[in-house]
Amino acid sequence: MHPTVNIATKAARKAGDIILRYHNQIDLLTIESKAANDFVSEVDKAAENAIIDEIKKAFPHHSIMGEENGEISGDKDFKWIIDPLDGTTNYLHGFPQYAVSIALFEKNVPCHAVVYDPFKEELFTASKGEGAYLNDQRIRVTDTHGLNEALIGTGFPFKSPQHLDAYLAMFKAIHPKVSGIRRAGSAALDLAYVAAGRMDGFWEIGLNIWDIAAGTLLVKEAGGFIGDFSGRENFLETGNVVAGNKTVFKELLKSIHPHLTTNLQR
Ligand code: IPD
Ligand code: CA
Ligand code: CA
Repeated sequence: MHPTVNIATKAARKAGDIILRYHNQIDLLTIESKAANDFVSEVDKAAENAIIDEIKKAFPHHSIMGEENGEISGDKDFKWIIDPLDGTTNYLHGFPQYAVSIALFEKNVPCHAVVYDPFKEELFTASKGEGAYLNDQRIRVTDTHGLNEALIGTGFPFKSPQHLDAYLAMFKAIHPKVSGIRRAGSAALDLAYVAAGRMDGFWEIGLNIWDIAAGTLLVKEAGGFIGDFSGRENFLETGNVVAGNKTVFKELLKSIHPHLTTNLQR
């Protein structure tokens, strides 16, 4: 494992310990609403602080962007992007599908990634050019040919209801062609599952960079494809994401493209 991934893993495990400490006592937590259907608990904040402490100990000059703390300035060529708890709604309901997501971008390129599911003790890691791993075993995207045998992950635009019509049009186009669609509630894990071959593809509108920063590298290093709704690279800016093995990626794009509207902004 690359030494940088070692540090990220240590940070993710510390955050995971905090997350698990409270997972049976959610009623003790203070929960705030950041926006409609967008909740944050003291666990999200404590987990993010633990990650930041760990990163700062090893790399005091790097810059950091965390979902809860925003930007911490530093060397912009080395930027950490953190989602301390991806799947907060699941967590707050005791639905065990959530993860810590940590990525390091070097000169704006994702170079190291960790997605850690503390409940299932699954650690997904990748470094650029070095492949993707689940608990030290190499992972690869599936080799499914076409959509008819494909299991596809997605996310509903529950925080952005203005995208619901466009989303439902995409859903209607994809649903009859595939073997199943899952909405599991953690985009970071959805992308990790595509990388691990547990799902053949994924799409969602309007994600934030911290939801996808680590998952992006996992998919690419597992031999998969990821892009925006036109298949281009700027999905980190728009948050409109399609991922999959080569064929599924292409087929999903074909189904989504006719339903693009001009205002699919976050
Ligand atoms: C959310 C999850 C979810 C996705 C939402 C995200 P959060 O992240 O990734 O799957 O559908 O758009 O905001 O708020 O739980 O960190
Ligand atoms: Ca998230
Ligand atoms: Ca989060």
